[in-house]
Amino acid sequence: MSSQYGKKIKISVFGQSHSSAVGVSIDGLPAGITLDIDEMRSFMRRRAPGQNDISTARTEEDEPEILCGLVNGVTCGAPLAVVIRNTNVRSGDYNETLDIPRPSHADYTAHVKFDGHQDSAGGGHFSGRLTAPLCAAGWICLEILRGLGIYIAAHILQIGSAKDDPFDPAGVSKKDFDAIKDNPLPVLRRDAADAMRLQILDAKEKEDSTGGIIECAAVGLPAGLGDPMFDGIENRIAAIVFGIPGVKGIEFGSGFDGSARNGSGNNDSFYMDNGIIKTRTNNCGGVLGGITNGMPVLFRAAFKPTPSIGMEQGSVSLSRLENAVLRVKGRHDPCIVPRAVPCVEAAAAIALYDAYLDSSVSV
Ligand SMILES: Cc1cc2nc3c(=O)[nH]c(=O)nc-3n(C[C@H](O)[C@H](O)[C@H](O)COP(=O)(O)O)c2cc1C
Repeated sequence: MSSQYGKKIKISVFGQSHSSAVGVSIDGLPAGITLDIDEMRSFMRRRAPGQNDISTARTEEDEPEILCGLVNGVTCGAPLAVVIRNTNVRSGDYNETLDIPRPSHADYTAHVKFDGHQDSAGGGHFSGRLTAPLCAAGWICLEILRGLGIYIAAHILQIGSAKDDPFDPAGVSKKDFDAIKDNPLPVLRRDAADAMRLQILDAKEKEDSTGGIIECAAVGLPAGLGDPMFDGIENRIAAIVFGIPGVKGIEFGSGFDGSARNGSGNNDSFYMDNGIIKTRTNNCGGVLGGITNGMPVLFRAAFKPTPSIGMEQGSVSLSRLENAVLRVKGRHDPCIVPRAVPCVEAAAAIALYDAYLDSSVSV
């Protein structure tokens, strides 16, 4: 099983939804970085479950416990390990899905891959719970990048049919980020949050679920990060963003829309701005040939509707090899998207900091 990522900083995520803890070890962090764990706590609280009526009813404090790698709040160069205890487990909810896999969850594929030995309680290692350690590691990278003048933030672009405005691709700045963080539904246009909330509550009421899109931007990056072909910034970001369960698509810059345009409508003209080379538009999402061009890196991740829904669904019995009907029990998010916003920021930070360390370019 591959739950590792990174070339220069190597993260290894471990645990299952209902094991005693989930966690991450991070190797390759520079020594001498001061980390305020209260800040890590606040970041992780944005992802933590059970905080409002649009989230799962499973409440978890998501308290990060630093096992090693930090001495008096300062990184010491040894691998840093964080665990987050699982305190609110109800494994009995999952007895049925051992035999009758949930449609669109990983129960069936895990059963095939691990020959029935998988831990299926709460989705096991495939659970959204594994994004808690991802957020712990990502917050550390966000902090280090912030010290270099590189800022990353995400907002919800769409839930169901409710839409927010997109970031200004060429003009997005840290000021936009400060205005949206700390909102349970981070959006640029306030009324969009109300419409999104209604979509989620409507799905919840019907024992159904809904999906959506998260848009993420990174500003302050130097030109020249990333490598051609297989180690480009797009490749690196896509690899880690697809590690967030529920992600089914990613696009950079004008993405799929751009493919319907002419070159004249999609090319980003260069110009000089006080001695700095910039582009007037940012349809490339800040990346050309896999390498940053100094403009904001901009991408969108599509999340599918939460697979576990209370409505009756068709499935099969793995022991009897016959059709079966399933009503999923347990506590589930009617929409993954609000809790996934910090996960996307964390994933982008890990990818970009790793690319930064892997490059000879400095800020
Ligand atoms: C923050 C977060 C919370 C999630 N909560 C749930 C949930 O409550 N119920 C559920 O069925 N899936 C949930 N998921 C999604 C599943 O974990 C995911 O769909 C499943 O592991 C299959 O992986 P895939 O969708 O990437 O193929 C969540 C994902 C994230 C990122």
